Amino acid sequence: MNIEEMARFCKKTGMVYPSGEIYGSLSGFWDYGPRGVEIKKAIKDAFWRFFVSKRDDIFGLDGAIITHPKTWYASGHIENFVDPVVVCKRCRAEYRLDHFIEEQLKVNVEGKTLKELIGLINEGRVVCERCKSEEFEKPEVFNLMFKTHIGVKESSNSEVYLRPETAQNIFINFKNVFEVARKKLPLGIAQIGKAFRNEISPRNFLFRCREFEQMEIEYFIHPNDENKCFYLNEVDMDREVIIFTAEDQINMEKPFIGKWRDIFSIIKDEWHGYWLYKTMEFLVLLGIDEKKLRLRQHLPEELSHYSKETWDIEYEFDFGWKEIVGIANRGDYDLRQQMKYSDKDLSVYDEYLKAKIVPYVIEPSFGLDRIFMAVLDSAYSLREGKAVLKLKPFLSPIRVAVFPLVKKDGLDEKAREVYLLLTQHIERVFYDDSGSIGKRYARMDEIGTPYCVTIDYQTLEDDSVTIRFRDTAEQERIGIKDLVDRIEELLESGSI
Ligand code: GAP
Repeated sequence: MNIEEMARFCKKTGMVYPSGEIYGSLSGFWDYGPRGVEIKKAIKDAFWRFFVSKRDDIFGLDGAIITHPKTWYASGHIENFVDPVVVCKRCRAEYRLDHFIEEQLKVNVEGKTLKELIGLINEGRVVCERCKSEEFEKPEVFNLMFKTHIGVKESSNSEVYLRPETAQNIFINFKNVFEVARKKLPLGIAQIGKAFRNEISPRNFLFRCREFEQMEIEYFIHPNDENKCFYLNEVDMDREVIIFTAEDQINMEKPFIGKWRDIFSIIKDEWHGYWLYKTMEFLVLLGIDEKKLRLRQHLPEELSHYSKETWDIEYEFDFGWKEIVGIANRGDYDLRQQMKYSDKDLSVYDEYLKAKIVPYVIEPSFGLDRIFMAVLDSAYSLREGKAVLKLKPFLSPIRVAVFPLVKKDGLDEKAREVYLLLTQHIERVFYDDSGSIGKRYARMDEIGTPYCVTIDYQTLEDDSVTIRFRDTAEQERIGIKDLVDRIEELLESGSI
């Protein structure tokens, strides 16, 4: 699916709509419809089970979207969270300067300063994509945080920001969570929630939006345990993975298929390698095609102001390999900055050392909307020209559909009974009796329903039904008395 097809498919199937469409829509904002919201929720639930509920070292948090503005001075976002922008003199279209130059002049501008970018735009021939004018205002930098005000009177004192990442709520609450957790380091805090960035040119459907959702973990580690990960037994060092190191990018080499042991020989900290592995494991369990995932190390000039080392997990979309998760070694930058600006102690007392220590942090940061796209892209297939969405059953917006073959001769009443029976045990069951049975199957294939149960004339004779499998279109006949157990067994396989 190319990106336009994906957007059209999502709208048609009730997954995602452009936000405010009846008014001409608002660029960079999207509304998830009934099918999409179920898939997105199932991804969040899986994340929570995998990284929080099934572990004893990670705890949850749900912080405020607007928090104390000093947080953003401390984190460096006021100063550093900026993008260069260029505006067309004639039609006022705005472009993110680095992307604009890359697209128009086909050069790599990673790590270039504003001055260098301005030099490039002055040298080359660039035209406005909208009105074709060649005249632009002098480029400027622009902070990506959305501002709003608290209280009735707007002044610089009432200014607050919508969070551009969920991470900072975690840093400022580290001590609170650490105290109730009653655990020693290492200890993680996870949060799922909205983040806002006033992106200059939102594009590629959900890929770059202005309001999006993150699932982040800040994993706090004792400085004495640096590069001494306790959980390496969970890593299959012989598993293959596509690797694109910073060195290979500098030497213009291609990515290579390596093993996880190669990652551990390159990466500075074992804990960082471990979190890359767990993240990749999770993405594959979601059904994302492993062959379309790769690990790319950030170039030194690309690193965020807080990062010692960062690796992205990229997915191969039709518009190229793009980041869906970033995994950074943030060191102790954030805790120290928040301590400095708040004048509060966020360090931890180490009984053994009889001293206070400041943990360092590995941060896996998942973009939920981008993962949603990668899940759909990996699941999408065609059978006889019709869409079949091969989602893992635990992600399907409808898990089981129940159909009477025809809506007469008592088949519909019997189907209703089967439907009620299933709803007592299974979530997301759907009943449909309108249209031909072929069309009903096709509608379910398109939104990824893994199993359809059909009530036919034989049901009235021997109390049996058919289960139709989405991925093969094959059918199995089964007694109603065994139906719940069989469906539960099918749904259980492959779930997180
Ligand atoms: N706390 C670290 C952090 O926010 P980031 O690389 O800026 O790091 C993390 O963002 C993830 O959030 C990205 O990997 C991406 O999946 C997602 N993301 C970032 N900006 C986005 C946007 N404008 N639209 C959709 N997702 C975005």
